[in-house]
Amino acid sequence: MATAVAPGSLSNLGPGFDVLGLALREPLDRVDATRRPNPGVGVTVAGPFGERVPTDPDRNVAAWAAAQVMATTGADGGLDLVVHKHIPPGSGLGSSAASAVAGAVAAARALEEQVHPTVLLSIGRDAEALAAGSAHLDNVAPALLGGFVAVLRTKPPEIRSLTLKGDWSLAVILPHLEVRTADARKVLPRRVPMQDAVQNLRDLAGLLDAAARGDLEAFARHLGDQLAQPYRAPLVPWLDGARQAAIAAGAPALSISGSGPAVFAPCVDKERARQVCDAVVDWLDDQGIGAQSWVTAPGPGALNA
Ligand code: HSE
Repeated sequence: MATAVAPGSLSNLGPGFDVLGLALREPLDRVDATRRPNPGVGVTVAGPFGERVPTDPDRNVAAWAAAQVMATTGADGGLDLVVHKHIPPGSGLGSSAASAVAGAVAAARALEEQVHPTVLLSIGRDAEALAAGSAHLDNVAPALLGGFVAVLRTKPPEIRSLTLKGDWSLAVILPHLEVRTADARKVLPRRVPMQDAVQNLRDLAGLLDAAARGDLEAFARHLGDQLAQPYRAPLVPWLDGARQAAIAAGAPALSISGSGPAVFAPCVDKERARQVCDAVVDWLDDQGIGAQSWVTAPGPGALNA
């Protein structure tokens, strides 16, 4: 049996809409793959969110990705997968990307085949299209490669690993609400005002500079976004209140991951991140919104876990 783990990830990170991604140390999905003589891919699900993913191999992203690896390598026989689902689906934390990446990497390991990372990225991207209706790499790339990454091109995939200095903790809070990525993309305008685009470029430059220097305060200051968040605000009416609760608990900023509903705050250490998680969960609870949280940090991807 071969195993792969792939992390959940933050995407966009403020000004980096559809470009930036950051792998998390947790939560993680795991896929176990075992070769079998009869063709095809069988899948069973386990873990706290196993019941929320399909077991039809044509609709399960891990099984679909594993089948693509089999087709690419021309391997004989088939695979049986067990998908241990720990990343909540529909969270904005790259749940389907992590399962697809773990499925592809576990399949390659079970088949004892070397599959080039660019091929794995393409398979993950196409699995995302299957799961979410649009082909993105801003969760797939961190799930595979780990760390802080930029998507320079989607087809064919071109990814750069970026420097993120500093031993920061991350407070990640997931309100138990649904924000469908497809809906969150429908509200985006086809054109944006020039001054908004310029502001995002300024913040992107500031964010990358702060990451390279390990300057937490500056990183937090540049987590703004004018391209997507203003238009998505009606879908997340609780976001400003959650941000105020985080800042009152000592976070320098709070931002949304992808189209949400997960939010994150970079924090100076684990203790601060715990306080921020608790404050935001309590505030959401006061609004009648259940939530869960993780005190986590930037982490490796499936290829280097
Ligand atoms: N970057 C995407 C968005 C989500 O904000 O719509 C993650 O692929």
